[in-house]
Amino acid sequence: MKIMLGIESSCDETACALVNDKKEILSSLVWSQYDEHRAFGGVVPEIAARAHLDKCDVLIKEALKRTNKTFSDLSAVAVAAGPGLIGGVLVGVMTAKAIALAHHLPFIAVNHLEGHALTVRLFQSVTFPYLLLLTSGGHCQILVVKGVGNYERLGGTVDDSAGEAFDKVAKMLNIGYPGGPNLEKRANSGNGRNIHFPVPMKGKAGCDFSFSGLKTAVRVCIDKQENLSEEMKNNICAAFQNAVVDEMKDRLTHAVDIFCTRYPAGKYLVVAGGVAANKAVRAMIEQTAEKNGLIFAAPPVQYCTDNGVMIAWAGMERHLLNISDSLDFKARPRWGLDELKGA
Ligand code: KG4
Ligand code: ZN
Repeated sequence: MKIMLGIESSCDETACALVNDKKEILSSLVWSQYDEHRAFGGVVPEIAARAHLDKCDVLIKEALKRTNKTFSDLSAVAVAAGPGLIGGVLVGVMTAKAIALAHHLPFIAVNHLEGHALTVRLFQSVTFPYLLLLTSGGHCQILVVKGVGNYERLGGTVDDSAGEAFDKVAKMLNIGYPGGPNLEKRANSGNGRNIHFPVPMKGKAGCDFSFSGLKTAVRVCIDKQENLSEEMKNNICAAFQNAVVDEMKDRLTHAVDIFCTRYPAGKYLVVAGGVAANKAVRAMIEQTAEKNGLIFAAPPVQYCTDNGVMIAWAGMERHLLNISDSLDFKARPRWGLDELKGA
C-alpha cells in the first residue's frame, strides 16, 4: 500500500492530506485563513505566508496522529510548488523538502493547477483525454487533459479569472469575504431578470474568457442606485452569476466542438477549481455535457476549493508513474500547465 502526504500552501488555505493508492482519503485537514484576511477584504500575501508558517507543521503532525501513522509509513511527500503566492509556496516546499530529506522519501513538486485538474480521478474513473474547465481564484482555462503532465490549452482568460470577478463584485457589494460563496448564497435568493449585464465574449470565436467588462458593468449598476437595498444586492448577485455562467457556456460550446473533433475517444467534461463549487456553474456544465453526449464529472464540492487531497492525489498519480523531483527544485510563482512534462 502506498501512502502520499500532500501539502498545500499556495494561497489562503494551509492544508495537508494523506491519500493511498486505493483511492482512500485517510486524512484531510484544511486551515482557512479567512479570519486573518477578512479585515482587508482579500488575501494579504505577507500575512498568508506567516500564517502558513504557523500552521503547516502543526497540521501535518495532526494528520499523521489522527491516522496512527508516522513519517516512516509514507511512500513519498508531495507539495504544491506553484503557481501561487511565493511566500506561502516556499513554506510548503521547504517543509516537504525537510520531511523528504530527513525520512529518505521521494519529493514530488506538484503544480497546483494539476492538483485541481486530476482530483476528479480520485473520485470517479475518468479516463484520459478529458475536457476540463479549470476555474479558480487565480485561473480560468479550458484544457484537454491528455495524461499526467500532458495538457493542451484551448483557451483562457484575457483579464480576470472568474473567481477574481466573484471576489471583486462581492467586495463592491460589501457582502463579505470570501466573496464567491457569499455571492452564490445571495444569488440564490435574488432575481436577476431585470438587470442586464454584458456577457463579454459571447458570440466571439475561440475559447477565451473575459470578465473585466462585466465587473465594470456591475460597478456602474451599483453607482446608479440611490439606495442599495439588500434585495437589490441579491438581484445584482443573481444577474452577475447568470452572466458568468452564460460566458462559460458560450466558451465551452466552442471547446466541446474542438474536443469532440480532435479527440473522438474523449468521453468526459470536467469542471474543477474553487468556482466549480458553485451550483449554477456545475448545473450548466452538466447540461452542456448531456447535450453533447459527454459524461459530466467534477470533484465533490468540498474538494473544489484548495485542499491537501488534490495535492496528495496529483502526487500519487506522479509517484505511480515513477516521477519525482530533486531537492533543488525551485518554488515557482508562475507555472503554466503547458510547461509540465509527463511520464
Ligand atoms: O481553487 P481555489 O480555492 O483557489 C485558487 O486556486 O485560486 O479558488 C478560490 C476561488 C475564489 O475566488 C472563490 O471566491 C471562488 O473560488 N469560489 C466560488 C465559490 N466557492 C469558491 N465562486 C463562486 N461560487 C462558489 N460557491
Ligand atoms: Zn486552487
